[in-house]
Amino acid sequence: MAPGPVTLLGHGRLGSALVEGWRLTGTVENLTVLTRADPAVCPGGTRVLVIAVKPGAWRDAVAPLVSTLPAGAVVLSVMAGVRAAALATALPGHPIARVMPTTAVAEGRGIAAVWSEDPGARSVAHRLFDPVADTVDLADEALMDAATAVAGSAPAFFYAMAEALAEAGTAAGLPPEAAARLARGALRSAGSGADSDQSLETLISRIASPGGTTRAGLDALLDKGLDHAVRAAVEAAIDRARRLARDQPA
Ligand SMILES: NC(=O)c1ccc[n+]([C@@H]2O[C@H](COP(=O)([O-])OP(=O)(O)OC[C@H]3O[C@@H](n4cnc5c(N)ncnc54)[C@H](OP(=O)(O)O)[C@@H]3O)[C@@H](O)[C@H]2O)c1
Repeated sequence: MAPGPVTLLGHGRLGSALVEGWRLTGTVENLTVLTRADPAVCPGGTRVLVIAVKPGAWRDAVAPLVSTLPAGAVVLSVMAGVRAAALATALPGHPIARVMPTTAVAEGRGIAAVWSEDPGARSVAHRLFDPVADTVDLADEALMDAATAVAGSAPAFFYAMAEALAEAGTAAGLPPEAAARLARGALRSAGSGADSDQSLETLISRIASPGGTTRAGLDALLDKGLDHAVRAAVEAAIDRARRLARDQPA
C-alpha cells in the first residue's frame, strides 16, 4: 500500500498503465493524476510525486509543481535517461527514487528495476511497484540504462521478433493472417513459460530436442548472429539513454 496520497504527473502509455495496475491491485487509495489540462498544482498531503512524462518534457512539467510539493514528499521517476542528480537540482530536498517498469504493470504483471540511494525512497518505490511488478533492486544508478534496455524496451524487441517470425511464416507459404496469429500465439506461449520458475535453459530444452526441428531453427538463429543482434540492440538503447542524460544539464 502506498505511504499516503500519490500524485502522478503524465497519463500517457506508462502513466495510464500504472493507474490501471494500481486500481487492479488496490495499491493506491488516494491518487491524483495531473494531465496537461489540469492546473499544475500538487494536492496538499501529496507524499509521493510520480513523474511519467517524456524525458524532454519533465523540466517544464515539474517547474510549476515545485512550490506546492509538500516537504518530505518522495519523487519517483519512471523516466528513461533522467539522472537523479538532475531531478534533485529541480526538486531540492526531496528524496528521489528511479524505477524502470514495463507497461505490463497494467495487469499487475510488469517487471521493474528499482534504484535509490535513499532507503526510505527505495521502500516507497517497492510499496508502489511490488504489487504490480516483479521488482529488481539495482545497486548503482549507472545500471539503470542497462535495465531500461533489457526490461523497459525489451517487450518491443520481442514483438519485433514475433513480427519477423510472421513475415518468415508468410514467406514460407502461410497466409499472412494465419502467420501473424501463429507468431503472436507463440509469443504468448513463450510468455507463460517465462512466468514459471523454470530456467530459460530448461524452457528451451523442453522444446528443442537434439536433432529436432526447433534445434535446427535455433542453430540457424545463432549462426546468423542472434546474440550479436541482441547485444547491438541493448547497446544502442543504453547509448540513447546516455545521450538523453547528457542533453539535460544537471
Ligand atoms: N512506454 C513505456 O513502455 C515506458 C517504459 C518505461 C519507462 N517509460 C518512461 O515513461 C515516460 C512516459 O513515457 P510514455 O511512453 O508514457 O510517453 P507518452 O505516452 O508520450 O506519455 C507522456 C504523457 O505526459 C504528458 N505530459 C507532457 N507534459 C505534461 C505536463 N506539463 N503536465 C502533465 N502531463 C504532461 C503527455 O501529454 P501530451 O500528450 O498532451 O503531451 C503524455 O500524456 C518516459 O519518460 C519514458 O522514458 C515508458
